[in-house]
Amino acid sequence: MLNQALLQQAVDSVRPLLGKGKVADYIPALANVDNTKLAIAVTTVDGQTIGAGDYLEPFSIQSISKVFSLTLALNLYREDEIWSRVGKEPSGHSFNSLVQVELERGKPRNPFINAGALVIADLLQARSGAPKQRMLEVVRKLSMNPTIAYDKVVADSEFAFSARNAAIAYLMKSFGNFDGVVETVLKSYFHYCALRMNCADLSKSMLYLANRGKTLTGEQLVTPVQTRQLNALLATSGLYDGAGEFAYRVGMPGKSGVGGGIIAVIPGDMSVCVWSPELDANGNSLAGTAMLEHLCQQLGRSIF
Ligand code: DON
Repeated sequence: MLNQALLQQAVDSVRPLLGKGKVADYIPALANVDNTKLAIAVTTVDGQTIGAGDYLEPFSIQSISKVFSLTLALNLYREDEIWSRVGKEPSGHSFNSLVQVELERGKPRNPFINAGALVIADLLQARSGAPKQRMLEVVRKLSMNPTIAYDKVVADSEFAFSARNAAIAYLMKSFGNFDGVVETVLKSYFHYCALRMNCADLSKSMLYLANRGKTLTGEQLVTPVQTRQLNALLATSGLYDGAGEFAYRVGMPGKSGVGGGIIAVIPGDMSVCVWSPELDANGNSLAGTAMLEHLCQQLGRSIF
């Protein structure tokens, strides 16, 4: 049964895994995070949130923001305008790979790898007046937490070490698949990644994915069909090269970030967020995945 004791059990069961992964250090400001943090929060479609461990402590959401960006783009653009510029297939390469962008003439495989998220950030830049402010408003509303903010130190640190993402953006520009000024779009993209949210904020924010597009406050953010489509993309590409392993072990659509967070959903039922900063070889939270696996096994749930 889903209750606080089960979540505490999930946290306790993964403690032996601490030390087996590696905190992301390619973004210097992320390297200092306490690697012993463990957290889980669940929000159910009836609007209740429960959590265990460090679930009220904010962390850098990183690539989890790619779910919010795509959702905002779906609100601003026709679907063909999005999918003519980014694909829907798993990439089979690391999340920040350049090779595929070159081989596939500037069209990223999916919106969750860096290349795809940069195209989506380019779309948001073109059509929303103040994209960073807009993103903040959206996540504050979705989580019902008006204190959510950007971590300027992380955003600036990423911008200072942005060679790879800038290279991806310029390569796409060379193929005509990037309209904006690269540095301006990169700054917005890094800010989205640098949002600081806790597991409770994130599980609440992602409830629409479990609730046919309806947010915690009852707003229809995307249609039920779009929600299904978002979940399909999360199930196939949300965990990058680890999507197959994650589907096998956890069986929920999900999205990871190099800050060690993972969000996952059981459609019709609940949204979940876990956090543990140490990552596996694919850049996904090692103990976080194990907490989700524990939860799904104990609840006997999977989308498959
Ligand atoms: O652009 C980057 O590399 C980071 N801001 C985000 C990467 C990330 O979180 C990939 N996720 N596992």
